[in-house]
Amino acid sequence: MATINDNYLKLKAGYLFPEIARRVNAFAQANPDANIIRLGIGDVTEPLPEACRTAMIKAVEEMGDRTTFRGYGPEQGYAWLREKIAAHDFQARGCDISADEIFVSDGSKCDCGNILDIFGDTNTIAVTDPVYPVYVDTNVMAGHTGEANERGEYAGLVYLPISADNHFTAQIPSEKVDLIYLCFPNNPTGATATKEHLQAWVDYARANGSIIFFDAAYEAFITDPSLPHSIFEIEGARDCAIEFRSFSKNAGFTGTRCAFTVVPKTLTAKAADGSDVELWALWNRRQSTKFNGVSYIVQRGAEAVYSEAGQAQIKALVAFYLENARIIREQLTAAGIAVYGGVNAPYVWVKTPDGLSSWDFFDKLLHTCNVVGTPGSGFGAAGEGYFRISAFNSRENVEEAMRRITETFNAHSALN
Ligand code: MLT
Repeated sequence: MATINDNYLKLKAGYLFPEIARRVNAFAQANPDANIIRLGIGDVTEPLPEACRTAMIKAVEEMGDRTTFRGYGPEQGYAWLREKIAAHDFQARGCDISADEIFVSDGSKCDCGNILDIFGDTNTIAVTDPVYPVYVDTNVMAGHTGEANERGEYAGLVYLPISADNHFTAQIPSEKVDLIYLCFPNNPTGATATKEHLQAWVDYARANGSIIFFDAAYEAFITDPSLPHSIFEIEGARDCAIEFRSFSKNAGFTGTRCAFTVVPKTLTAKAADGSDVELWALWNRRQSTKFNGVSYIVQRGAEAVYSEAGQAQIKALVAFYLENARIIREQLTAAGIAVYGGVNAPYVWVKTPDGLSSWDFFDKLLHTCNVVGTPGSGFGAAGEGYFRISAFNSRENVEEAMRRITETFNAHSALN
């Protein structure tokens, strides 16, 4: 008789975003005339940059000609893309990262989960709370946790609470942990980390033989020049960090799919016999075995991000979403609602008014304003009482959503 991976039975009912979609669909079916505005999942709405489209159209034509047709590409990504990434995203910022340390992939979410293939089963794993749920769920699936308690916290994980009290940046744990997930600019809180804060993490990781998984999917939203974009801007990070990057949010590739993971060749972890093993070699082996690379056409589109026109176009896209975030912050603040983030990040982290629970606020916004956000408790127990609003939408929709929310809450405050 075939058996299943029982770890899946430990997962909470649904992944957060499908659960939101289920509730929204039920509401939409019952209220077919409602004009629902979705500021929940961080999915982009604006068209792909022209430079990327032009490059992909050219690549399609090449695929239609026997002399320029391409079959399987390198599993790690084409050298011309990896070289541009290394030069532009790392070397230009003073990071010692070479092209062959970059692995092009079809998404950061996939890489964040897949990276666990090359790590052992006995590592102590730390996540912030709240946190991007993929880090937790992939560890549950891999059997790295026990069961969840009634707060949704899994036995075996070390939760590092982040809140307004610690500026939504995790404090270094007093105990020893082996794998640490950090995400800056942060999803879901929109918080950022200073160089000093990341230096403290790198120093901790090096002192304890830990590896930091640094998710920098939102680095393009950093406008404050003092903030680091990459963990590799921090001294010593080559010895203790893996970084995940994506073209999803800066260039609108959520549907096009292209990302990359940086694994320095200097990074090692222990084998069962106590020897040091190069993680780059393991990840290279893993990718070569389980992955056939991103399509040529899409990689040409990603390459165009680094052209002069591409750079100007992605800057404009990011600025557009940041302006949405500013509007959300200002309008909600004016309505007397406390907000965080949304300055160097596309997410605004909202304190739910009137002590409403995260899901109660979700239902209120959906039913009263026909606006969808993401309940903070979906990101972890410490997210209870918070709510995430994404700035990824059209200007018109963001303005209309804010008009509806502020009208509701201003009218409500006037009654109280
Ligand atoms: C989010 O809303 O948190 C993101 O869309 C998740 C993702 O990028 O996978």
